[in-house]
Amino acid sequence: MSEQEKIDIRRGLRDVYIDRTHSSFIDGKKGHLLYRGFNIDDLAQNSCFEETAYLLLYGDLPSAKQLSDFDDLLKSSRTIPTEILEVLNIVKASHPMDALRTAISASSALENDVEDISLESTLMKGIKLTAMAPTIVAAHYRLSIGKDPISPRDDLSHAGNFLYMISGETPDPEDAALIDKDFVLHAEHGINASSFAARIAASTKADIHCAVTAGIAVLKGPSHGGAAEGVMQMALEIGSKENARDYVKSRLKNRKVIVGFGHRVYRTEDPRAKHLKEDARKLSERKGDPKWFGILEEVADAMEPYARKGIAQNVDFWSGAIYQILSIPEQLYIPIFAMGRVPGWTAQVLEQLDNNILLRPRLLYIGDKNREYIKMENR
Ligand code: COA
Repeated sequence: MSEQEKIDIRRGLRDVYIDRTHSSFIDGKKGHLLYRGFNIDDLAQNSCFEETAYLLLYGDLPSAKQLSDFDDLLKSSRTIPTEILEVLNIVKASHPMDALRTAISASSALENDVEDISLESTLMKGIKLTAMAPTIVAAHYRLSIGKDPISPRDDLSHAGNFLYMISGETPDPEDAALIDKDFVLHAEHGINASSFAARIAASTKADIHCAVTAGIAVLKGPSHGGAAEGVMQMALEIGSKENARDYVKSRLKNRKVIVGFGHRVYRTEDPRAKHLKEDARKLSERKGDPKWFGILEEVADAMEPYARKGIAQNVDFWSGAIYQILSIPEQLYIPIFAMGRVPGWTAQVLEQLDNNILLRPRLLYIGDKNREYIKMENR
């Protein structure tokens, strides 16, 4: 066997462990997810985004005083500078993920200590980016529809304030609680593609603005953050629950994926999905809008035989329905994922910086090795 043949190529880095982590644990076979040792079910039912963000960033649940101080810090960091509003105005025609990526990147120009990659400075900047992300997304949305951005309010939660900044109306607390839970469920998820991108940036000793910008860029893809948007496009295409089974059958026959199903790590139902399913059901009853839940439930039923083979519902299957029933514009679905994930990216960047090693894998060259250079005049 030649040296080349001995090389073990793990395409897609499937099941490759690149480091150790304290941030989250995923058991893909049993469908378990822990943040810092705490079960996602407990966090989804009892925690809020602010507490979960604290847990991910500081490693433990906060005391009441610690949570209140952390919440104050987030609230005092929500306002975005006018320079960033100007940037958002320039890119108002772009997809909100592109706008978020651009604004986070541009905000580095306004940080005094942008290149300080000490753990303390990185943590503080990560908290600031967590606080600013909803304001950026909401301001860009308002500009994109020809309206003025709305300043954040400091008497609302992270989730409630986001809903307020989109519509200008104080949100129904039950609606805000759903987005809050959605943020909790999206806050951290191991070395997924966007966290890997953030870690790669940090591994080169680039600062957190670079890492979060990289994370946002990678999250935009339909195989990662884009699924919720895709699920609702699918539901719209299906049109009514009577069509759902035929739709699933025809797509699978044509070897096309059903969006909102499947996961690189989970071989059973994503443990985050059940929380949103129940919420989507209750929400559709509360708002008297059963259509979307009905279509998606039929799709889920039609996919049942595949769930047994490991292609089961993922977190984004139901989140799209929740956003749709809450009348959140479709283009904001992925940014909502991004807003929830900033603490997870920050936690992973902190871990990377704390025990840094350059992330630099190899590619096996399989091209020609003896090509003769031919001068331009002879080609
Ligand atoms: N619908 C139908 N078939 C699917 C599927 C889906 N949603 N997800 C995976 N499969 C199939 C694959 O095509 C593959 O079939 P093959 O062996 O005949 O080639 C098989 O199941 C195994 O796929 P797997 O290795 O588990 O997929 P992956 O790890 O490469 O990809 C995703 C994972 C998430 C990219 C993929 O499941 C997908 O595209 N899902 C839809 C998009 C989505 O919901 N993304 C959000 C993830 S949180």
